[in-house]
Amino acid sequence: MKQILNSIIIFSLMLTTFALSSCNSSGTVKSNSADVVLENIATRTSIRAFTGESIDDETITKILKAGMAAPTAVNSQPWVFYVVKDRALMEQVAENFPNAKMSKNASILVIPCGNREKFLKGGAEGFWIQDLSAATENILLAAHALGLGAVWTGLYPNTQRVKDAAELIGIDSRHIPLCIIPIGIPAESPEPKDKWNPESVFYK
Ligand SMILES: Cc1cc2nc3c(=O)[nH]c(=O)nc-3n(C[C@H](O)[C@H](O)[C@H](O)COP(=O)(O)O)c2cc1C
Repeated sequence: MKQILNSIIIFSLMLTTFALSSCNSSGTVKSNSADVVLENIATRTSIRAFTGESIDDETITKILKAGMAAPTAVNSQPWVFYVVKDRALMEQVAENFPNAKMSKNASILVIPCGNREKFLKGGAEGFWIQDLSAATENILLAAHALGLGAVWTGLYPNTQRVKDAAELIGIDSRHIPLCIIPIGIPAESPEPKDKWNPESVFYK
């Protein structure tokens, strides 16, 4: 009996030590989440070949939530997101936009759009591009974290591409498509590019 009690005490002490070692001074869990996040950022790379398999709605919602978690000027959230699931439409996008031809075998296309009704006023309208770019990067990172592949294919500021994409996809005139993000199950695994260049940094 005494031996069992001793074992319980030792086990409890080990658990407490582990719990304390994974907390920072404010009591929040530290663990290795920073490493995981940084690794996800460092290993993301554009994926341009997909298997054509579908992805479920829960996964799509996770990706969109990541997009909407992005910072925006004055928290204006000047966006809407179109999600294309229709295979025929994805094929039309691939045919009409050579720069987004990988859309053919994607599972979905996400099209982050600026929402004119929520643009800032007084010369600050242009912030929507940065807001939507932040959302786009979040979407790319979320897709990668979920084991999916994705690539940013540019529309804005190419006025012809913006016009053609809006017509083809049926985008409301209040909305300006920034880019098309084909997302799918990767059918290639390119090495991430190492872009770290200390010469691009100026310390003052
Ligand atoms: C604004 C922007 C527009 C882009 N447009 C395209 C595009 O039209 N087609 C494409 O295949 N990739 C496009 N890309 C992806 C870039 O080519 C890619 O991010 C770059 O080569 C770096 O590679 P990485 O994403 O693997 O790090 C675009 C990226 C950005 C940020």
